[in-house]
Amino acid sequence: MEQTKENSPINSSANTAIPANSVKNNVLPSSSQQGIKRRDFLWTAWASFATFLAASAGAMGKFLFPNVLYESPQIFKAGKPEDYSLGVSTKWMKDQRVWIVKTPSQLYALWGRCTHLGCTPNWFDAEKRFKCPCHGSNFTSEGDVIAGPAPKPLNRCAIALLPTGEILIDKSILETRPGFREKDQFRIAFKEA
Ligand code: FES
Repeated sequence: MEQTKENSPINSSANTAIPANSVKNNVLPSSSQQGIKRRDFLWTAWASFATFLAASAGAMGKFLFPNVLYESPQIFKAGKPEDYSLGVSTKWMKDQRVWIVKTPSQLYALWGRCTHLGCTPNWFDAEKRFKCPCHGSNFTSEGDVIAGPAPKPLNRCAIALLPTGEILIDKSILETRPGFREKDQFRIAFKEA
């Protein structure tokens, strides 16, 4: 009997792609199998979309909250003036990168950052000077340059005496200029005895 177009297994009017091996084995995918394939496809598409959204959210999060190196707070309490002897104290150097300098008439805080390229100088008490290990700049205990390539004196930090008698140091406010660094904002003046 001649096979008509309507009952042919390769009927193009069905408008469905039929796997080659199905034709070869004379097996057609059932409608439930086709449904499962479509569901698989939809799940794969949703999973890809969700992965894309998660990756985008991650990138946005990194943009909004970049990796930041958190440093010690800019403002800190440094005890009381009577806790310090005359001269340069290195007590806060490791934690705060600040020296406390006490003289008979005042107390001030020097920021431990060389004004050449930012290295940390060291205090040499016997020589009464700061020396920068990077390119050899030397500074007095007032912070003035006495040798090397540093173009400016060391910075002084803003400083205040709290009602409790404690010293408050603010490293976010700095002054290097002679004539300005001696203002009360950058020193604690002692009353004449
Ligand atoms: S960084 Fe201090 S002398 Fe260069």
